[in-house]
Amino acid sequence: MTIIRTRTAAITPLLGRHIRPQPTSCLYRASTRCISQKTYTLNNGVKLPAIGFGTFQDKEQQESAVYNALNAGFRHIDTAKVYDTEEFIGRAIRKAGVPRTDLFLTTKLWCNDFHPDDVEPALDEALAKLGTEHIDLFLTHYPCTFKRGTERFPKGEDGIMQMGETTYVDTWKAMEKLVHKGKAKAIGVSNFSQGEVQTLLDQGSITPAVHQMELHPYLQQKSFVEWQKSKGIHMMQFSPLANQNNFYRDIYWATGKANAGRLIDEPILKEIGEKYGKSPAQVALAWGLANGRSVIPKSVVDWQITQNLESDFPLDAEDLEKIGTLDKQLRFNDPSSAYNWKLYSDLEGAWST
Ligand SMILES: NC(=O)c1ccc[n+]([C@@H]2O[C@H](COP(=O)([O-])OP(=O)(O)OC[C@H]3O[C@@H](n4cnc5c(N)ncnc54)[C@H](OP(=O)(O)O)[C@@H]3O)[C@@H](O)[C@H]2O)c1
Repeated sequence: MTIIRTRTAAITPLLGRHIRPQPTSCLYRASTRCISQKTYTLNNGVKLPAIGFGTFQDKEQQESAVYNALNAGFRHIDTAKVYDTEEFIGRAIRKAGVPRTDLFLTTKLWCNDFHPDDVEPALDEALAKLGTEHIDLFLTHYPCTFKRGTERFPKGEDGIMQMGETTYVDTWKAMEKLVHKGKAKAIGVSNFSQGEVQTLLDQGSITPAVHQMELHPYLQQKSFVEWQKSKGIHMMQFSPLANQNNFYRDIYWATGKANAGRLIDEPILKEIGEKYGKSPAQVALAWGLANGRSVIPKSVVDWQITQNLESDFPLDAEDLEKIGTLDKQLRFNDPSSAYNWKLYSDLEGAWST
């Protein structure tokens, strides 16, 4: 087993006296430290680290954050063209010197690159920025196709988003070709409704390996989760800490909901955390892992980065049940009005439901 010694000095605060036995999937283990090395095997055999590192926002800080995350033991980095972090991540990887074979990199195709002829050039650009020959997971960021061209958010004079002429099915077929070429090891979707996923199952030839979707104790989407499981689609939770991300408190489509109280202040998560000597944030991440999903928390703070990597611990059934009661169908990431596309139309927590 590889031993990774973390360079982060901060010690995760212990919140309780009764520390439970740690799981066996530790990459590095000391009395109070357990860095997860858990992986999931996707429907095409590709292995995905269970805990990944998000890089949405704070782009100027991402080179050092990703460098610290790699040194702490993260091996999956999640990015997207629209985050403008790919170049910083590339630099951090080179600086940290982690071999490419040990890394799992995810990036996402933005909606103005959805025309089939634009898909491969868009991936090539991402690969060049990241400094790699292939991507491990290539996702279509949203189902909506924007007008083709250089404008990422091509709005008309009326302020309304201009849509493209091709569909996400055409885009998907172009992404499938990249798998055959070896440029993408796996492909998947993000922010799709059940109907949209079903369309790809019907009309595509590759089943999405992953759906990166908003999923946290406030938005549990139990029936959609079960349905995707039955189709062999792995679920990767974005915003796994729910409204902890300040973006949701600032952006007009979510402020009301996001200001109602933070997930990590939930007494249930605090109480469970005390039982295991973990923080509420770690309990929220452990809940996702306990349900067989991967999580991609973002942080630019050293002690949080380390803490998030120490979130793989088993939760008792009674605690999973308690977390189940936190489901409020609260969806924070719903830019339907801005994107001129009714997102999540058949899912819980959408403005349309
Ligand atoms: N596919 C999509 O459409 C989509 C949408 C949203 C996000 N994502 C991906 O998912 C990633 C994660 O989602 P997210 O960034 O929205 O939210 P998140 O990871 O749930 O939460 C991030 C926020 O939580 C804070 N935080 C992190 N670890 C913490 C801890 N242990 N204790 C307390 N606070 C903690 C961070 O603080 P600091 O930043 O100050 O460290 C930040 O404010 C993104 O970075 C991105 O890669 C994808």
